[in-house]
Amino acid sequence: MTILILGSGGREHTFAWKISQSPLCKNLYVAPGNSGTAKIATNVNIGVTDFQAIKTLVLEKEINMVVVGPEDPLVQGVHDFFLNDADLKHVSVIGPEKAAAELEGSKEFAKEFMYRHNIPTAAYQSFDASNVQEGYAFLETLNPPYVLKADGLAAGKGVLILNSLEEAKAELKSMLVDAKFGTASNKVVIEEFLDGIELSCFVLTDGKNYKILPTAKDYKRIGEGDTGLNTGGMGAVSPVPFVTEAFLNKIEERIVKPTISGLQKDNLPYKGFVFIGLIKVGDDPKVIEYNVRMGDPETEVVLPRLKNDLVEIFQAIANQTLDKVAIEIDERAATTVMLVSGGYPEAYEKGKEISGVENITDSIAFHAGAKLENDKIVTSGGRVMAITSYGDTYKEAIKKSYQSIEKLHFDKMYYRKDIGFDL
Ligand code: AMP
Ligand code: GLY
Repeated sequence: MTILILGSGGREHTFAWKISQSPLCKNLYVAPGNSGTAKIATNVNIGVTDFQAIKTLVLEKEINMVVVGPEDPLVQGVHDFFLNDADLKHVSVIGPEKAAAELEGSKEFAKEFMYRHNIPTAAYQSFDASNVQEGYAFLETLNPPYVLKADGLAAGKGVLILNSLEEAKAELKSMLVDAKFGTASNKVVIEEFLDGIELSCFVLTDGKNYKILPTAKDYKRIGEGDTGLNTGGMGAVSPVPFVTEAFLNKIEERIVKPTISGLQKDNLPYKGFVFIGLIKVGDDPKVIEYNVRMGDPETEVVLPRLKNDLVEIFQAIANQTLDKVAIEIDERAATTVMLVSGGYPEAYEKGKEISGVENITDSIAFHAGAKLENDKIVTSGGRVMAITSYGDTYKEAIKKSYQSIEKLHFDKMYYRKDIGFDL
């Protein structure tokens, strides 16, 4: 088969790493890719939402399957674009159709879905510019902290958690009236604050059947001890040590099953990954958000633990025979630590040469914001590289990641030294 992966992050390098191990994959393309995917696949410099250019590439290279990494093309309807085109409809697309991608594309849509299917989540109400006053009144009925969410995609920055009522009202106005997050904050969901520890559950579905992948926990804040600004993710651990079999059962019965049957009842066509962001409140799981793709850097710890041929799984998703697949998981733990450019998630410099990658032997270096320039690997983004290791315990794995990082260098390199600190 000839396969195309859309995206350019650590997640997509991990997909390419896994897919290139499959005897079913004869040719592998990544658009646009990075310095890591360049070594194991052919990079093509096309943007992930340039559907016409993607079509040209798919026809020219006779691509049979497209694996979509990030949410933007899904929310913009890349799967529907393929289905509605006579020349493309035979190509398998891994990722939900547009209607289902709204689970990530609109927070209000996701909350309504959860309420409709009795899926445990925080109580909420949503507001727009026409009823800001009612928004203030709703905030007055809640206890602090206050959780405000821009309805649309805001590159992971659209959620605000505020300690005072005054601040919460000011931010609500800034989102709805002053378009703080552009059109993404035309609507705002205000929800009850949930106090607990977060984790993520990843589910594969072909629209009828589902399989649960290992759990993972990511570390979103830039600073040690989970302080400072939110990032795309600074590291991850899988499995999540506090997830017992009983807790996993609750996740499956109360959340995964009603989610998959809800997709069917609501006619939301879904062939891909469901990323369920959860919070453990007491002993009970509640949903914080759905994403319609894999997480990054969670992919860098989840896929290395999957023993199956990933292409075989994707074929089963395309053919709706996922029930015939038995998922096999490596018993070892996997951890990853993200190396970022100094200054990230605010302004940072690019183009710094990365040295020492060839010396990494006990870990896997998944490239993210890194590209090839005159045969050198240089930084090209905020999150630069994810260093993944296996271990009998997550502590052993994390130690290996930190030992490997000692061998790497680029100017102003930063990483968190406390991944897993809270487990
Ligand atoms: P989201 O983009 O919806 O995942 O929200 C970003 C982050 O905000 C989450 O990872 C949580 O840490 C936090 N968060 C979101 N909703 C809530 C909530 N209802 N209660 C507490 N924390 C929340
Ligand atoms: N690491 C969180 C995400 O991929 O959304």
